[in-house]
Amino acid sequence: MKDLLLDAASRAAGYLDSLDHRAVSPAPEAIAELETHLAGPMPEGSTGPEAVLAFLDEYGSPATLATAGGRFFGLVIGGSLPAALAANVMTGAWDQNAFSQPLSPAAHLFEQTAARWLLDVFGLPEECSTSFVTGATMANFTGLAAARGAVLDRAGWDVEAKGLIGAPPVTIIVGGEAHPTVLKSLGMLGLGRETVIRAPVDDQGRIRVETFPSFEGPAIVCLQAGNVNTGSFDPFDELIDRAHQGGAWVHVDGAFGLWAAATEAHKHLVQGLAKADSWATDGHKWLNVPYDSGMAFVRKPEHVRRAMTVTASYLPPDVHPSPDSSRRARGVEVWAALKSLGKSGLTDLIERNCRHARMFADGFREAGYPILNDVVINQALVRFGDLEVTQKITAAIQAKGETWFGPTVWQDQPAMRISASSWATTEDDVRRSLASVLRIVERFA
Ligand SMILES: Cc1ncc(COP(=O)(O)O)c(C=O)c1O
Repeated sequence: MKDLLLDAASRAAGYLDSLDHRAVSPAPEAIAELETHLAGPMPEGSTGPEAVLAFLDEYGSPATLATAGGRFFGLVIGGSLPAALAANVMTGAWDQNAFSQPLSPAAHLFEQTAARWLLDVFGLPEECSTSFVTGATMANFTGLAAARGAVLDRAGWDVEAKGLIGAPPVTIIVGGEAHPTVLKSLGMLGLGRETVIRAPVDDQGRIRVETFPSFEGPAIVCLQAGNVNTGSFDPFDELIDRAHQGGAWVHVDGAFGLWAAATEAHKHLVQGLAKADSWATDGHKWLNVPYDSGMAFVRKPEHVRRAMTVTASYLPPDVHPSPDSSRRARGVEVWAALKSLGKSGLTDLIERNCRHARMFADGFREAGYPILNDVVINQALVRFGDLEVTQKITAAIQAKGETWFGPTVWQDQPAMRISASSWATTEDDVRRSLASVLRIVERFA
């Protein structure tokens, strides 16, 4: 076992070292070669673990997208901090089931500590429950499940026991630029993707206070910390007061934007956010822990426990409040990341990436290409032309492989998305990527 794990560590380190010199996108030949080697039925006989590992590295590594490196700026994808990756290896060896405290006292304690530190970083009430889930989609689902149960309970309906058939109607208000996973979560909860009221937003995607819809009866309001395109934040202070006056539950999707709370320079963006009832965020985005890692926080733990409870004579009474039952101890990696960064390291990570986004925006602006958003955190949108040109440019960038960006359409305007989210990115990476993109863009001018 030891030789095998040392070999795995050595190959993993070699892979990470190679990312500085290789193309971000895998070569089509590497993907084809992997496909060829994976063809065929399951083998009749066994294969030694050394050979399995060598196969992964020889054929798998070249076919990966280099999201762990410093020159990937697509979606909102961070790399893995060294301590978090090492924790991932360690917890893999532990193979704990973090379903409940008796099954893994160690995981329980690490996760409780991570939860306490996270609530402190985000400025959320210390009595909140924390659910470690797979990502912001499931964190939104968890917060909204708690919301559904609470608002219907106040209306005299036990949705966990009786379901939604015959339940009083629930008004759902989301911003016009809410992330699609909020709608997916509402759909999975039987609340409907298309029955929601879309609150009008401004040119940054922020809900407009003056046109916020009025409502009556059981209601859930979904706000956003960090729009996936612009990085903008809803005006929490006024909106949460308004929603609470009407008796609504307020859920905040802060998949990456919640981390703005960790810096003095960006804290004003989350002003008032702590007054909400539930929040969702990701570890695998801006905290740079390995996939998969998301967190849901619920102000009153009884609401999430009620939604996620599971009972059986052979089970302990107090299980982790999440949609999963058996699950890996992903909160240990969150603890490791926070422990290794400390508050100053976390602030530095967030500020550094925000600076990277501003460097890109300044560079493109200077070259004559408009930036469509106010660059308030780590997201920027640059406009090169119509959708066809934008798609051709991003395809050419990805094919060249020196860096990686994806296209989007922001309020009818095609753009290239810039998301600086990795500890591994240096200012040199930004300069190199900017120069590479500008060389490609000039070919399409
Ligand atoms: C604002 C927002 N919410 C939710 C999500 C979904 O996150 P995940 O893919 O981790 O489920 C994202 C992903 O980019 C996001 O930006």
